[in-house]
Amino acid sequence: MLFFRKRNTETPLPEDLLAFMSTDLHSHLLPGIDDGVPDVATAVQFIAQLQHLGIKKIITTPHIMMDRYPNSRDTMTAPYEAVQQSLSAGNITLPFHYAAEYYLDEQFEALMKAPLLTLNGQLVLVEISFMSPPPQLHGWLFDLGAQGYTPLLAHPERYNYCHKNFELYQQYKQWGCLFQVNLLSLTGYYGKHIQQAAEKLMELNMIDYIGTDLHHEKHLQAISNISKNKKLRQELEKYPFRNHTL
Ligand SMILES: [Fe+2]
Repeated sequence: MLFFRKRNTETPLPEDLLAFMSTDLHSHLLPGIDDGVPDVATAVQFIAQLQHLGIKKIITTPHIMMDRYPNSRDTMTAPYEAVQQSLSAGNITLPFHYAAEYYLDEQFEALMKAPLLTLNGQLVLVEISFMSPPPQLHGWLFDLGAQGYTPLLAHPERYNYCHKNFELYQQYKQWGCLFQVNLLSLTGYYGKHIQQAAEKLMELNMIDYIGTDLHHEKHLQAISNISKNKKLRQELEKYPFRNHTL
């Protein structure tokens, strides 16, 4: 007698789950250099799991925040090569590259004098203070644009000071920023207000890219859980994210 496993058509195959994202352009998967994965084995495990969920390519983005994580191409090369080697040894074939998530502050002005790590030769992933809008932001964004870069603001929905001052978002867009929403913001992982801001930004078509911002196991578990959220998946699948262009 043959046994057929009944497939619930409501539940997507794991490999389709994050297919809408295609390229994940925000994560912390180079071991030991920021608050992301602690070692090569964890990096490889996370990358394999992202691939299993439908991610086709990863551009990981360690923090460059000179006070806490003074990273550069030099600090990233060795951990990147160690992960890459381990991926090859494990026959994990998805393209795995690195860029950076730059924290915009006074020290970034010096970094801008040398070539920056970009997502595609032009896009630079940036984050800003979670406490208050930096008064110099317009100048930094202008300088980035003048050098031929396009700033991509990481998780705009997580800057609480923008929630009651929504025109700040419009201003950042006018100043040349693209926006990257965190997948987990849309599940309420970071709180209700952040979820609402993310939803409003999407409703207004102000979001350009989506990323996992994966740091640790708890994030990965929460990402896998979106398989249970059919409504969210449907919304994400019809939203015109530009991730596939990377
Ligand atoms: Fe990040």
